[in-house]
Amino acid sequence: MKTYLVTGGAGFIGSNFIHYMFGKYGDEIRIINVDLLTYAGNLENLKEVEGRDNYSFLKVDICDKKAMEAIFTENDIDYVVHFAAETHVDRSIRNPEVFVQTNVLGTAVLLNCAKAAWELEDGSFRQGKKFLHVSTDEVYGSLEEDGGYFYETTPYAPHSPYSASKASSDMLVKSYVDTYQFPANITNCSNNYGPYQFPEKLIPLMINNALHGKPLPVYGDGKNVRDWLYVDDHAKAIDMVIAKGRLGETYNVGGHNEKQNLEIIHIIIETLLEMLPEGDKRRTLVSKDLITYVEDRKGHDRRYAIAPDKIKAEIGWEPETMFKDGIRQTIAWYFAHEEWMENVTSGDYQKYYKEMYQV
Ligand code: NAD
Ligand code: TYD
Repeated sequence: MKTYLVTGGAGFIGSNFIHYMFGKYGDEIRIINVDLLTYAGNLENLKEVEGRDNYSFLKVDICDKKAMEAIFTENDIDYVVHFAAETHVDRSIRNPEVFVQTNVLGTAVLLNCAKAAWELEDGSFRQGKKFLHVSTDEVYGSLEEDGGYFYETTPYAPHSPYSASKASSDMLVKSYVDTYQFPANITNCSNNYGPYQFPEKLIPLMINNALHGKPLPVYGDGKNVRDWLYVDDHAKAIDMVIAKGRLGETYNVGGHNEKQNLEIIHIIIETLLEMLPEGDKRRTLVSKDLITYVEDRKGHDRRYAIAPDKIKAEIGWEPETMFKDGIRQTIAWYFAHEEWMENVTSGDYQKYYKEMYQV
């Protein structure tokens, strides 16, 4: 039975990954979820799995060296799947330091713990161990509107404190591979969407605001492009890279699903109106008139687009969920989880929202 140490498993992608893995492997694997439960971490995301004998949760800061060492000493970890991070670009512009702390220092702590636990006397590593570092396409910088893609060979050119901190963490992982032949893979994925995404990010923010008849804030001209991937497809890619990825390699993950932000917002409005039943009072609130242009994000990257050729050729991964289906599934999930949304948007989120959008 393989033991996975998942960091940041109470966040958006981490919790979807845990559900995906138990859905696929059931009792054949063991998952230890380490998460500090910052504003972005939420144990409600994991209610369905918390009673499992092969699942455990530990509220620990990945920067806490002693606590992390103890976890590696007390458990024979086979795979580290490292999601834990500060992840929101706008927050990184306002408060960069915590991004360096968690994303860079936290990754260094984890790398050292895994190295100490897995290294043999001759400097080689125990067979079958792997550190999967979950990263982003934002490390590659910004593409021109009219062409080009991010390949694994594209030079790093991060622009925001968030992407700079992720780029630094990737570099640390690469340095462990080069220096120690440390068994690792890096995945650089495009923008994800799906259930459990915190409503500070574009898609859930627009769904939530539209349903409440609140302005839909569009940064700049709304023509920035992101390459959207349904979160289950990302979970599947990570599982496949753990199983089949060549040690030391990086794999870009994305599905050739580029859309301008304004297009996304129009699709959300149209899909909400299609899905809301006749007579539901929210139908009167959802409208294109809510679209409001606001000041652009500082250093706003124009376009991201992944070339997923390598992961397709070497590993056989391809996205399965078409955007039109994925967005319906996502909206259906938010309809069914109104209480989740109310819980995460009360308290601190209100303060963040007021400061960020000056309302
Ligand atoms: P998220 O913000 O939803 O979740 C992050 C989780 O990490 C939270 O549960 C939080 O409590 C936890 N965490 C934060 N600091 C911690 C610390 N010091 N110790 C322990 N836990 C801590 O993020 P997400 O969107 O699920 O992203 C997960 C990973 O995937 C990140 O590394 C991110 O860079 C990467 N990624 C995200 C996207 C995307 O579109 N969301 C795309 C590509 C890559
Ligand atoms: P976001 O979900 O924050 O992801 P990222 O910046 O990591 O790609 O933003 C996606 C795009 O949507 C990005 O171009 C910024 C834009 N955006 C808005 O126009 N308005 C908003 O309120 C938010 C949160 C994002």
